[in-house]
Amino acid sequence: MHHFDYRHGQLHAEDIAVAKIAAEVGTPVYIYSTATLKRHYQVFARAIGAPKHRVFYAMKANSNQAVLATLAALGAGADTVSEGEIRRALAAGIPADRIVFSGVGKSAQELAFAVDAGIYQVNIETESELELLSRIAQARGKRQSAVIRVNPDVGAGGHAKITTGSSANKFGVSFDEAARIYARAANMPGVKMLGLATHIGSLIMELDDLEAAFMRMRDLTLRLRGEGLAVERLDLGGGLGIPYEIPEKFEHGPDLIEAYAAMIERTLGSLDVERGFEPGRLIAGNAGILVTEVLQTNPRPHTTFLVVDAAMNDLIRPAMYEAYHEIWPVKQPAAKSERKTYDVAGPICESGDTFATARQLPETKIGDLLAFMTAGAYGATMSSTYNTRLLVPEVLVNGSEFAVVRPRTSFDDLIGLDRLPKWLG
Ligand code: LLP
Repeated sequence: MHHFDYRHGQLHAEDIAVAKIAAEVGTPVYIYSTATLKRHYQVFARAIGAPKHRVFYAMKANSNQAVLATLAALGAGADTVSEGEIRRALAAGIPADRIVFSGVGKSAQELAFAVDAGIYQVNIETESELELLSRIAQARGKRQSAVIRVNPDVGAGGHAKITTGSSANKFGVSFDEAARIYARAANMPGVKMLGLATHIGSLIMELDDLEAAFMRMRDLTLRLRGEGLAVERLDLGGGLGIPYEIPEKFEHGPDLIEAYAAMIERTLGSLDVERGFEPGRLIAGNAGILVTEVLQTNPRPHTTFLVVDAAMNDLIRPAMYEAYHEIWPVKQPAAKSERKTYDVAGPICESGDTFATARQLPETKIGDLLAFMTAGAYGATMSSTYNTRLLVPEVLVNGSEFAVVRPRTSFDDLIGLDRLPKWLG
């Protein structure tokens, strides 16, 4: 379920015509729905038993401060992976005691920043990082709450590039090492070791692998407790997928969430622990679209290229993960309109800058607006200025209101960052 649908022949974001936003803000433009963000957060939070168990929204999916503030008002915390994300979460009003810091390579500077900010938890990825954190916190007279990320050697996810839980992946301490490192951590002066974390991949649609990973977490928890070590928290990561191919049937989202919650009860229900969750895509993915204008059409024997004003630098998922995004015309096609075969591509000078091949769409002309659906997660946050293109503006809709929550940057801002060295001056 999401809040982008056709009314009076025009695609609407909640109560606002997408074409109206495009006319006022220009294209390409990301448009987010407050109602969808809230609904997905609330469905998830209810299913997992918040506030007893905690939701740390994985802000790498979409870190616009307006999105963060919308979720924070519902009680969300943030899963962060850099000093920049911690700063952004704090700036958006997420209190430090609702922030966790994950990530596979944290610098001393970043750990010091996190400790000074007083964040809720650091998710430790290596033994050397544990030692570093303890030294940093001890030097400040503090003990930082932490959990250890375990690699359960169960990978999962929608693409090899987003699988993280296999032992071939760089994430977390190995299962065999976990108990030894955990015991060591219990005696470190700057760390308060509270539990375990895992995250095995993203875009997970089948729960079997997650269940296997959680069973391993359960076994490890019991083993550590058997050795007299306290395990109070289990951070179960994110990773639940969303169906990109059928956004109109989004009822699948809640179904999967319910099955997930039931599976967790089955695997971990008997342990007395606080559970943490780091959903990203599930909350934001379906809450955003990227709207683009057709610049050119280029007919070929078997297809017609539609060259649009959005490019791979604005939405990299198709180029990077062969990801599928539905494409909806902003003007509603007539019910029985004929479909034609199109390849939809951006203006960047590489063939990888293609959003869709052999896609069936109603007849589309220069100047028409198209919406890439399910672009709210890993869209704007993964954008770049490749080809000296400006970052796409972001708009948040709330009922019949909308606001530009990140304006389009200017060429002066972008080009003005370069400096000529004195030998060229
Ligand atoms: N927690 C950790 C430790 C993570 O590494 C991630 C995502 C999440 C939580 C959130 O996962 P989610 O619930 O969103 O699946 N750029 C890729 C996805 C990369 C995911 C990276 N880690 C994409 O566009 O599909």
